[in-house]
Amino acid sequence: MLKKTIEVKNVTKKIRKRIILQDVSFDVYEGDICGFVGPNGAGKTTLIRIMTNLISSTSGEVKIGGVNVKEDRKLALSKLGAIVEEAIFFPYMTGRQNLRNLAMLNLNMSKKEQREKVEEVLKIVDLYDRGDDKVKTYSLGMKQRLGIAQTLLNNPKIVILDEPSNGLDPIGMRDLRKLILKLRKEQNITFFISSHLLDELNKMCNRFIAINKGKVIWQGSKEELMKKTGESLKLEDAFINLVSGY
Ligand SMILES: Nc1ncnc2c1ncn2[C@@H]1O[C@H](COP(=O)(O)OP(=O)(O)OP(=O)(O)O)[C@@H](O)[C@H]1O
Ligand SMILES: [Mg+2]
Repeated sequence: MLKKTIEVKNVTKKIRKRIILQDVSFDVYEGDICGFVGPNGAGKTTLIRIMTNLISSTSGEVKIGGVNVKEDRKLALSKLGAIVEEAIFFPYMTGRQNLRNLAMLNLNMSKKEQREKVEEVLKIVDLYDRGDDKVKTYSLGMKQRLGIAQTLLNNPKIVILDEPSNGLDPIGMRDLRKLILKLRKEQNITFFISSHLLDELNKMCNRFIAINKGKVIWQGSKEELMKKTGESLKLEDAFINLVSGY
């Protein structure tokens, strides 16, 4: 039996009188790399903010690792690493110092374990050699990888990334993709990744959820997506058809 790691049930969000999300439901399973696609303004970031309990839904519920984020926020979030919109660092500190500051917040680890964890995640994201450079000297791709290092500090089982490839060049995107695939393989981390670039997601995701105007318009496996689009059709065109046909 596949284990559900993220459960989103009938989530609706209204801001003032506007409906931003309407009755959104889906499950993500252990080991999935789940792509969350939708055009600008579809509601991706809003849903991710609800999933990470930065804002609350108007109705509906989200469970992370079986734990309701509203009822037991601390336990639910302890299983999770997330970057919402962009990771925040102190630019005048080094990558290593930024990670150490955050690692210090993890009271379940001794000082020694915290330091070791920082070195471990720097190696995983391939920033070990640049760890003593100030973050302001990092390229965008390096900052994205440092953001992922940050999410790994508390050994999450689930990582949520909001538009991680935004602004990256093809090599930056490839490096990020390789890193995500490596973490999925070696640490069995489940990923939930939003993007408006379906072709990019298709290179790493096994499942997709598509939203538009606050509603889920399609969800399924990569195979189902391929069947729907036909092998020959460019995914980006399929995406436009999906969104505009709605
Ligand atoms: N605090 C808020 N107050 C009013 N409207 C909001 C608020 N937050 C989001 N919205 C609206 O909700 C809709 C969805 O926004 P959201 O940022 O979730 O979209 P998105 O899919 O992440 O888009 P993008 O791809 O551009 O990042 C937009 O129309 C946005 O203007
Ligand atoms: Mg967004």
